[in-house]
Amino acid sequence: MLLATMAKVKDPLAEITSLCKRRGFVFQSSEIYGGLNSCWDCGPLGVALKRNIKDLWWNSMIAHGDIEGLDSSILMAPKVWEASGHIENFTDPLVDCKKCKARFRADKAPTDEAGKILCPECGSDQVTEARNFNLMFKTFMGPVENKGNEVFLRPETAQGIYVNFQNVASSMRRTVPFGICQIGKAFRNEITPGNFIFRTREFEQMEMQFFVHPEEDQKWMDHWMEKRYQWHLNMGINEKKLRKHPHGPKELAHYAKSAFDIEYEFPFGWSEIEGVHNRTDFDLNRHQEYSKKNLTYVDVKRNNERYIPYIIETSVGADRSMLSVLCDAYHEDSENERIVMRFSPKVAPVKAAILPLQKKGELGELSQNVYKDLQSHWACQYDDGGSIGKRYRRQDEIGTPFCLTLDFDSLEDKKVTVRHRDSMKQDRIDLSNVKDFLKDNL
Ligand code: GAP
Repeated sequence: MLLATMAKVKDPLAEITSLCKRRGFVFQSSEIYGGLNSCWDCGPLGVALKRNIKDLWWNSMIAHGDIEGLDSSILMAPKVWEASGHIENFTDPLVDCKKCKARFRADKAPTDEAGKILCPECGSDQVTEARNFNLMFKTFMGPVENKGNEVFLRPETAQGIYVNFQNVASSMRRTVPFGICQIGKAFRNEITPGNFIFRTREFEQMEMQFFVHPEEDQKWMDHWMEKRYQWHLNMGINEKKLRKHPHGPKELAHYAKSAFDIEYEFPFGWSEIEGVHNRTDFDLNRHQEYSKKNLTYVDVKRNNERYIPYIIETSVGADRSMLSVLCDAYHEDSENERIVMRFSPKVAPVKAAILPLQKKGELGELSQNVYKDLQSHWACQYDDGGSIGKRYRRQDEIGTPFCLTLDFDSLEDKKVTVRHRDSMKQDRIDLSNVKDFLKDNL
């Protein structure tokens, strides 16, 4: 049955989406109401997977030694978005097809030989003029809904860092170069969301802004590009599917002097998972201008030189990073008639499963004790339902690196069978060594 399904597999992203639902990684938002387009909910295993990714990111930032954490609010003073350029520039060219009424982005649409935009749905060249559509979601602060009370849901977390630059520097007695990192939700009213959780209207960003002397921008740009590339590899991403893409002059955002994307080869092609930008002094300059607060920095290490620091930004989507991890882990093992998620143990949502061959009695009791003991150290599952083969398949599909099977011999010899997810190899080890084994192998 499984083999037959595998033979028909044409769309790996559809298979991954289906596995994510079946196994509790990601559900469609508001599904019982027919779903809400481009919004997704993380199920129990998705939360665990995303948390592991976020923890790896956060810990790698803090371990750098000169980076502080922040959690700024989603709603900010509207002037922030004027200063940042989002009100003016954060737009996509929106076009409507007069024939089939499809709505799409002009810059991503196919064109005919003469360069005329064609509808990506029906191919018609009868389309409206492109008009700029701002991607920021609006709402109102307080009970009155008028223009004066309009606020925006942040489209990036970065601005919360810029406006707190001085607060963090002075409260934490930091001197340039130093960084501020934060993880949080961002919202964009994308015209064409899609590809599962790749492009959504609500997502989480993990952003770090590193403040440097203007003469040191290139040095730090190179440093962060390499560091961030290595971080993805360190999470277990296949090196062949990861590349750096430098931006050409036409691709650069309005605030950037230079930029690199880190791209992953998704089932739908090479696409950005992270951006590393040299934002120069653009942001702090603009906030100085719009807030009328002096944001210059006095550098005691450089004879009290006054300057606006340059910013090297690293910005990665937590959900998009999770999608790269999911796609990278997904493996159809037709020889063994199984689907296996080959997560690195670092990100695997469940580290070990305890599988007793008997539900009740002495063996059930022993297995429960093993589970309780391990669960306090690692995320574990206890599964005593169905044949052992089925239980292994279930754990393979959620990417559990190790299954620990307790059988009747375990009662006598106090040993347990360790079954390795990828090789399916089985070893027998002493129950008293299980913790050390997991410590060494996770
Ligand atoms: N502060 C810079 C900034 O926001 P960006 O390239 O627009 O730069 C950074 O976004 C990262 O945020 C992207 O590389 C991607 O991982 C994630 N991201 C952006 N838009 C997204 C969306 N609609 N859905 C999911 N992730 C998104």
